[in-house]
Amino acid sequence: MGTSQVLFIALIISVISFDQSLVEAKFSNSMYFNWGAHHSSILGNGDDLQLVLDKSSGSGVQSKRGFLFGSIQMLIKLVPGNSAGTVTAYYLSSTGSKHDEIDFEFLGNVSGQPYIVHTNIYTQGNGSKEQQFYLWFDPTADFHNYTIHWNPSQIVWFIDGLPIRVFRNYESEGIPFPNKQGMRIYSSLWNADNWATRGGLVKIDWTGAPFIAQFRMFRARACKWDGPVSISQCASNSPANWWTSPIYSKLSSGKMGQMKWVRDNYMIYDYCKDIKRFNGQMPPECYKQQF
Ligand SMILES: *[C@@H]1O[C@H](CO)[C@@H](O)[C@H](O)[C@H]1NC(C)=O
Ligand SMILES: *[C@@H]1O[C@H](CO)[C@@H](O)[C@H](O)[C@H]1NC(C)=O
Ligand SMILES: *[C@@H]1O[C@H](CO)[C@@H](O)[C@H](O)[C@H]1NC(C)=O
Repeated sequence: MGTSQVLFIALIISVISFDQSLVEAKFSNSMYFNWGAHHSSILGNGDDLQLVLDKSSGSGVQSKRGFLFGSIQMLIKLVPGNSAGTVTAYYLSSTGSKHDEIDFEFLGNVSGQPYIVHTNIYTQGNGSKEQQFYLWFDPTADFHNYTIHWNPSQIVWFIDGLPIRVFRNYESEGIPFPNKQGMRIYSSLWNADNWATRGGLVKIDWTGAPFIAQFRMFRARACKWDGPVSISQCASNSPANWWTSPIYSKLSSGKMGQMKWVRDNYMIYDYCKDIKRFNGQMPPECYKQQF
């Protein structure tokens, strides 16, 4: 083989390995238990996960690799019955003191009372951007689709296809946006009765243990992150380039209408309206359009 043929083959191989930067990850091939493995399990064909909380401990999984941008889907059936004091979490996070994080957390409640969906985002180590919602369905009766859509223009939290929150990229105006470090994906079920139930008012009723949350069809249609990679490299590595596509850079007017419906009817806390907390000095993104 001549040198040019070898170079050609090397080029083909590098193109093929770049193509794989868009991966479809599921529990069995891409996650591991980082906590409470003794009483939790991956079931079925690797597409079902059960997390358990009892007096011995909670439990959790995390993805083996990090991702930068993508659409991260999780179907969740929350702890039924008296779940007060339990928190089921599903989030993306990097590590270190300047870490980024995108959160979905589900705060349990006593039987018949509504769960709270708690959302937050950390940029460069700073959170304090909470928004909370009630749900328009019983999240313990069936699986529902909680998807985080993260691209260079914006982050969108979706529930069953309805956007509930948007955090847009206003980096050019000095507002940090998570786009420089990869994040791993985590799910966990834990005892947060010192925090979740109105500041610890209600304690977990252990007579209802074990508490079980079920997860299904985790998919990270996302760009692999194996260390510092530039955004353009990451995006151009993708065969479809879909997260930079204009249709993902802004919600359609139909989606905006859905989000307005959710926020008008089900939002129960918005940090941007908490004037007392910030002493009137509202975070800068609160003055920007977030849709
Ligand atoms: C879950 O919701 C996301 C965002 O709307 C959507 O792209 C995805 O197709 C949904 N998945 C399922 C299994 O319905
Ligand atoms: C539980 O239900 C009560 C009564 O409806 C509600 O005030 C509270 O916000 C709910 N959520 C939690 C986590 O306590
Ligand atoms: C974190 O962000 C909040 C809201 O934007 C702000 O009030 C606070 O000063 C920030 N804290 C730090 C340590 O930057």
